[in-house]
Amino acid sequence: MGSTISFFSGESFPIEMHKVRIVQKLSLIPIEERVSAMQAAGFNTFLLKNNSIFMDMLTDSGVNAMSDRQLASMMMADDAYAGSMSFERLKEAAIGIFGKDFILPAHQGRAAENIISSAFVKPGNVVPMNYHFTTTKAHIGLRGGSVVELFKPVAMDLSSDEPFKGNMDTDALATLLDSERGNVPFVRMEAGTNLIGGQPWSLANLKEVGKICRDRGIPLVLDASLLADNLYFIKTREASQRDASIREITRRISDEADIVYFSARKLGCARGGLILSNDQSTHDKMLEFVPLYEGFLTYGGMSVREIEAIAVGLEETMDFDMIRHGPEFIKLMADELAKKGVPVVTPAGGLGCHLNASEFLSHVPQTEFTAGALAAATFIAGGVRGMERGTLSEERNPDGSEHLSEVELLRLAVPRRVFTMSQIKYAVDRIHWLFENRRLVGGLKWISEPKILRFFSGTLDAVSDWPNSLARKFRADFGDSL
Ligand code: F0G
Repeated sequence: MGSTISFFSGESFPIEMHKVRIVQKLSLIPIEERVSAMQAAGFNTFLLKNNSIFMDMLTDSGVNAMSDRQLASMMMADDAYAGSMSFERLKEAAIGIFGKDFILPAHQGRAAENIISSAFVKPGNVVPMNYHFTTTKAHIGLRGGSVVELFKPVAMDLSSDEPFKGNMDTDALATLLDSERGNVPFVRMEAGTNLIGGQPWSLANLKEVGKICRDRGIPLVLDASLLADNLYFIKTREASQRDASIREITRRISDEADIVYFSARKLGCARGGLILSNDQSTHDKMLEFVPLYEGFLTYGGMSVREIEAIAVGLEETMDFDMIRHGPEFIKLMADELAKKGVPVVTPAGGLGCHLNASEFLSHVPQTEFTAGALAAATFIAGGVRGMERGTLSEERNPDGSEHLSEVELLRLAVPRRVFTMSQIKYAVDRIHWLFENRRLVGGLKWISEPKILRFFSGTLDAVSDWPNSLARKFRADFGDSL
C-alpha cells in the first residue's frame, strides 16, 4: 500500500511525497477585474487568458507537474527524423510496463483515436464502450460508426458510494455482441471514466469484458489516458488487488486488452500519445496512418524532448506515492465541500472534483446553461477556472433545439502535484461562499454559437446584471480582500 502517515493529532489528510523546486508565480486579480475578464471571455472559461486566472482547474491535460528526472531526461534527447534513440527509450519503457510488443507514436490522445478509428471502423459499425469521450466519439462518427454506451444505472447516480461506477454492464455487452455479430470492430474500455466524474472500473469487471470479447474474437481496446487514477482505485478499493504492486496491476489490466492507447498529456505527465498492440497484423493495419497523419514512426508528431519525458513519466506512474496525490487531494476537496453542504459528485473520483451544478444552482434552468453559469460564477468568486460539463458541451438536436444534458457538472481538475493544500482550501472557501450566495447567480444566453464543438469557442452573456451583483456582495463580505 506504500507508506501511510498517521498524525498524533488524530487529523487525517494527504501529504505530498515530493518537494517543489521550480515554481511559477501566480497573481489574483480583484473581483471587479475578474468580472471584466469573464465578460471579455464571453462567459466561456476556455476563452480566459491565463494571466487572469489564479487556480487553473480546467484540466490536467499537459499541465501535470513534471519531475526533476523528467526535466533532466529532456536535456539528453536525440533529435533525428528517423531512428531517434529517444523513441527507443520510450519503446523500452512502454513495452516493459504494458507487456505489448508493438508500439506506434501519435502527437496526443485524439490522434491515436484517429488512427485506431481509421484502421478499424467502417460505415455502419457499432462500437460498445463503458462510456464515451468527446474526441473518441467524434473520430468513430467521422468514419461512419456509432457508439453504444453500456454503463450500469449507478454510473448516472451523482451521489452514491458505489466504488466502481465506470464498470461496464457485461450482460448487455454479451447480448449486443451476439446481436451485432460481424458489425463490431472493437470494444472500448476507458480507464478513470472522464465524463462521469473520473470514475474507475474494477479489474474483475475488465476481466469479464476481456473474456466476453475473446470468446467472440472481438478485440478489446483500452483507453489508458486516465489509467493512473484507475490504478489507485483498484489498489485501494478492490480487495483482491490490495497486495499487488501498481506494476503488477498495470500488467493484469494490459493483458486483457488487444490494443492500449493513451494521451501522454495525462498518463506520463508530458505531451504526446502512444498506441500499443499485441500482434503484427493489428499493428500493421494502424501503421500506415502514422506517417500520413502524425509524422515518421519514431516520433509521430512529438518532440524528442517530450518523448524522453514520457518514458520517465510512465516509469514514475508505477510509484504509488506519485499516483495517490491526485485522487487524495480530490477527495480532500470533495469531503471539505460536502461538509459545508455543497453538492459534489460522490464517491470522489480521479481527474478532478465535480460539482453538481443542477443542485448548486437549482434555480437556473438548463436552457440557461446551469453548469456554464456555475463555471463563470466560480471564476468570478475566486479566480478558479473549471470546465463546464453539461448542456453547453452538447451539440444541438437535428431539429435545432437544445439537447439538454443528462447531468450539469462543473469539473474542477486537480493536475498532479501542482496545487498545495492551502490552495485547495482557498478554492473550497470561495466555492462555499458562492454556495451561500447562490441565489445571486443567474443564467447565460448565446451571443455567438459555433456549429461544431461550440463549447470551445462560443461566446455568451449573462441574462442579467448578476456578475456585478455577485461582485458587490463579495466586497460587502470581504472588504478589500482579493
Ligand atoms: N481519452 C480520454 C479519456 C481523455 O480524457 C482525453 C482528453 C482523450 C482521450 C484525448 O486526449 O486531449 O491528448 O487528445 N481529455 C482532456 C480533458 C482533453 O481535459 O479531459 P488528447
